[in-house]
Amino acid sequence: MGAITMNNANRTIEFERVALRRGETIVFRELDLVLSERRIGVLGDNGAGKSSFLRLFNGLLLPESGRVRIHGLDVRENRRDLPRRVGFVFQNPDHQIIFPTVLEEVSFGLREQGVAPREADGRARDILGANGCATWIDAAVHELSEGQKQRLCILAVVATNPDVLVLDEPFSSLDLPTRLDLMDMLLTLPQTLVLASHDLDVLTHMERCLWLGGGGVERDGAPGEVIAAYRGHAMARRNNMGTC
Ligand SMILES: Nc1ncnc2c1ncn2[C@@H]1O[C@H](COP(=O)(O)OP(=O)(O)O)[C@@H](O)[C@H]1O
Ligand SMILES: [Mg+2]
Repeated sequence: MGAITMNNANRTIEFERVALRRGETIVFRELDLVLSERRIGVLGDNGAGKSSFLRLFNGLLLPESGRVRIHGLDVRENRRDLPRRVGFVFQNPDHQIIFPTVLEEVSFGLREQGVAPREADGRARDILGANGCATWIDAAVHELSEGQKQRLCILAVVATNPDVLVLDEPFSSLDLPTRLDLMDMLLTLPQTLVLASHDLDVLTHMERCLWLGGGGVERDGAPGEVIAAYRGHAMARRNNMGTC
């Protein structure tokens, strides 16, 4: 056990008057949220702030003002420890993968947690084998397709067993069978899942959805209701776009 332990009784994620600016853009003006569900979906147009929102979960970004607390831990005060507690799957696998081989990429996170190298390699083989990667466990990362890289990134983070799993459009390069397979796997996990996606089918599996836009949350609620509202917005926007 490290010096800091998650307060397991407190499984909530709190955003309190969070303001964030990136460049000239005010991404969040005064975001107030209390999230206690285990499956949270995030949607919104390009540039709405989905990636920025997720990056506030583990200190990749800090709010300009306000507070973010993950299971009771203030992100600003625990910035160094949070990446171990909050697993982050990047939208672009090339921003995540650091090792030349598939096995090393998954094994590394386990070794970092103090698992002996042989045991870590064994566990990495098990998780890769159990999730459709048996034939390329010993491959070099540069030999993989984009979809295989995305699958690898998800599994590498899941293997470290974080308290919260944050995934930024993790399925964009995946074919439908792989997407369904990984989604099933993710839904069996006990962790809190926060997932940004343009795939509205995927979002129907969440307990709560947040539609981000306009410097905050446009709509917050059950997936059916939020997705329907977002579809309405998308249709209206499309009609207003005219022809290019
Ligand atoms: N590195 C950056 N520098 C300046 N502005 C940025 C940067 N990253 C994102 N932004 C701006 O912040 C806003 C939110 O971006 P982002 O969180 O990436 O949205 P989304 O993930 O929903 O597409 C956008 O207007 C974008 O242009
Ligand atoms: Mg994004």
